[in-house]
Amino acid sequence: MDTLDQLVSSAVSDFAAATESARLEDAKARYLGKEGALTVLLKGLGKLPADERKVAGAAINLAKERIESALVARREALKNAQLETQLAAEALDVTLPGRGMPRGSLHPVTRSLERIEALFRSIGFEVADGPEIETDWHNFTALNTPENHPARSMHDTFYLRDEEGRVAEDVLLRTHTSPVQIRTMLAHAERHKHLDRLPELRVICPGRVYRVDSDATHSPMFHQVEGLWIGEQVSFADLKGVVADFLRRFFESDDLKVRFRPSFFPFTEPSAEIDVAFMSGPLEGRWLEIAGCGMVHPNVLRFGGFDPEKYTGFAFGMGPDRLTMLRYSIPDLRLFFEGDLRFLSQFH
Ligand code: PHE
Repeated sequence: MDTLDQLVSSAVSDFAAATESARLEDAKARYLGKEGALTVLLKGLGKLPADERKVAGAAINLAKERIESALVARREALKNAQLETQLAAEALDVTLPGRGMPRGSLHPVTRSLERIEALFRSIGFEVADGPEIETDWHNFTALNTPENHPARSMHDTFYLRDEEGRVAEDVLLRTHTSPVQIRTMLAHAERHKHLDRLPELRVICPGRVYRVDSDATHSPMFHQVEGLWIGEQVSFADLKGVVADFLRRFFESDDLKVRFRPSFFPFTEPSAEIDVAFMSGPLEGRWLEIAGCGMVHPNVLRFGGFDPEKYTGFAFGMGPDRLTMLRYSIPDLRLFFEGDLRFLSQFH
């Protein structure tokens, strides 16, 4: 049965030569398929004389079994090889260092606000909060700015519509943080109404404010920090001391001058604009306006529940956006609100 042995060994070497399963199945068909060599031999058995048939049939079947087991072994080997390649390709190097999360950072204006809060807390101020959607009364009237007062025109703001689409008469986006003066005064007076004398009120209020205004130094939304100190003996000298000291600490420099320039606000009397000038650096000698301030107007004290005969106080409203631009030499206010990571990531 040389032919059968040859057939087996040629099948075994064909299987071995097949390096992918489709080729292997082709090779299988050549031997075991419908027209395959073994099948043909088996079919031919019928033509043999009966006495030879048995021996020949057994031999062919044996050869068939050997080919079949060679096929199974090769299939197995190909499957393992494929698995190996796949495992190698998908291997995880658990010793690689992690990629990590990109680190965010605080917005430069947020940093300034946090600094401002910390500096004022250190001299006994509390930090207050108020709504950005404000009533007309808190934003203007209670701040001694009645309807039709010309000072309102400098505070052109955004109004809101009610559900029917009508402009809501009495609410607006606050144009400054000064309405928080009224809110904190009223809350303070209420909280201590059982006392003969109101304890000192010292607060700052950082927050967002809105005006119809937009260019390199004005944005429709910007920040303010309101400051308010009311007591029985609070004077303009205290205002000057607090503000000048704050500015030196904020800019970490004694190399600056502070100037109070007479101005007008309906809610303070007298009123001033606060200017700062650096004695060195790129802005050397230039006066830059950074806040409005003054002694709280008696009408405002009254609206806030304080007797103007007994109490005096000062207030200021400063622009932390401007302070941040100065501190980091940022040329354009709009950089703060564009969300450009090339800019923001410089403040890690
Ligand atoms: N609210 C004023 C403004 O936005 C600033 C200010 C605050 C002035 C407090 C005096 C006192 O322009």
